[in-house]
Amino acid sequence: MPTTRTWSAPARRLFFFCAFFVASVAHGAAPPRAGIASAHPLATAAGMEVLDAGGNAFDAAVAVAAALAVVEPFGSGLGGGGFFLLHDERTGKAVVVDAREVAPLQSVPEMFQNNKGEVVRDWSTNGPLAAAIPGTPAALVHVAARYGNLPLAESLKPAIRLARDGFPVNESYRLAARQRLDILRRFAESSRTFLVKGDVPSLGTLVRQPELAATLERIVQEGHDGFYGGEFARQLVDAVTEAGGIWSEEDLAKYRVVERAPLVGNFRGARIVTVPPPSAGGVALLQMLNILDAGNYPAMPVATRDHLVVEAMRRAFRDRALHLGDPDFVTVPVAQLLSAEHAGTQFTSIDRARATPSSELGGAPALPAQGENTTHFSILDRQGNRVAATLSLNLAFGSGFMVPGTGVLLNNEMDDFTTAVGVANSYGLTGSVANVIAPGKRPLSSMTPTFIEYNDRVAIVGTPGGSRIPGMVLATLLALLEAGEPAAVLAAPRFHHQYLPDQVDAEPEFFGSDRARQLRARKHFVTSTGRNYGDVQLVIWEKGAGRVTATSDPRGSGQGLVK
Ligand code: GLY
Repeated sequence: MPTTRTWSAPARRLFFFCAFFVASVAHGAAPPRAGIASAHPLATAAGMEVLDAGGNAFDAAVAVAAALAVVEPFGSGLGGGGFFLLHDERTGKAVVVDAREVAPLQSVPEMFQNNKGEVVRDWSTNGPLAAAIPGTPAALVHVAARYGNLPLAESLKPAIRLARDGFPVNESYRLAARQRLDILRRFAESSRTFLVKGDVPSLGTLVRQPELAATLERIVQEGHDGFYGGEFARQLVDAVTEAGGIWSEEDLAKYRVVERAPLVGNFRGARIVTVPPPSAGGVALLQMLNILDAGNYPAMPVATRDHLVVEAMRRAFRDRALHLGDPDFVTVPVAQLLSAEHAGTQFTSIDRARATPSSELGGAPALPAQGENTTHFSILDRQGNRVAATLSLNLAFGSGFMVPGTGVLLNNEMDDFTTAVGVANSYGLTGSVANVIAPGKRPLSSMTPTFIEYNDRVAIVGTPGGSRIPGMVLATLLALLEAGEPAAVLAAPRFHHQYLPDQVDAEPEFFGSDRARQLRARKHFVTSTGRNYGDVQLVIWEKGAGRVTATSDPRGSGQGLVK
């Protein structure tokens, strides 16, 4: 006679737990841990706090973005914008939340030129005329409401606490404050908030931002309209107008984030998911990969590889200068730029033995300089949801103008537009028409938050660094191909080429290396940047090995944590 065995409740629970665990590991269904890497330990901790409170990766992204706005005020903030690349594990879908700033309705193409047609950089970079309408507050509300589990009262809690109680100044802060000291001194509210008696604060000085805490609390209470409507919007507009800017309440009322389909490419078994225009970063990244693929990159000796990377960068950046702008305003030929034919043509134009002078490729405009003091964070939660977000104010401390009584420091992203159309720049070339200023238009960006997906592992990556961003994401991806340890991948010396100026910008370690000598032998003009650049934040989930790592660039002050 068969016997019927009855299990006790604890034994049943143990059985189901074991069965679930084995199934999860076998199918790689969910990461064993969550990982967060950001540019500041307090921001990483803010994200972990929100995960511990029951939030998902999207809640954590809101927490980290808001905390970075407080503790890294030179890199991003409520007065800025950026791009959030989200992957929802439940649906398997990725989406880009485009929170790029937009040009005010009163803006005109020549607004930064004097009556001789010369660009006045002070106007396009310093003070409220340089500020486009911010997107970050809208993104925080949107991401929390649409993708998060928690109310903003939970996900903004750590940032509000940090703004109210203060955070200690670190070396990155001091470096950025030194760079923009004159501008911070120019605006009383910024000087009072970020300097001590008009000077760079010493290490460990507590920076308190009670007005910013109140603004974040208002967003908790009123959501989107707490920033973009009512009394608060009036306060922003009045202060901007009084200081020479051109914002209107209509500008703020009209601001919306845009959800865009990510760009997807393939390279040597990896699926690359990245941002579309108005960032030029994703197109550049995929174009460079396509050219390397056409050249069978992995089979090449290192010296040839570096040469090919530089030539791929040169060609991708030339295309950027010719074709890219806000897709809601101009037609961007993304499909053609990313086609195999185009990559083949580009590859065929590369001389294996010698650098192609940029002038030989034919005229394209030089790029406007882009701020390097952006920020990036990468998040993976235990459900497998992921976020790669790059946020910016453009230059360090943005425009330097803080709206009195609000704690909101405004961006200077207007300088990412072409500021002089048809006027020769210092290279004798004219500015790109696709990126000309127009009311309501988003300036072209280089931000490149990216997922690199293999069957057995996923990497979440991005960095600040202006026009050098796509090249740093490319370098990370290529190093990961060699299956390097994350810390070694991020420590590797970097180099960059952007078509014009026609030079390889190399970190000092690369500049002095044999690899630089090999590039010189091929007639590349290699210059030293004099200091290291970038702040890559990398989270990797190795599904087969059941391992999650979160690694911050050794060049920065960030922290990666897994839990
Ligand atoms: N402002 C820097 C960028 O958008 O790339």
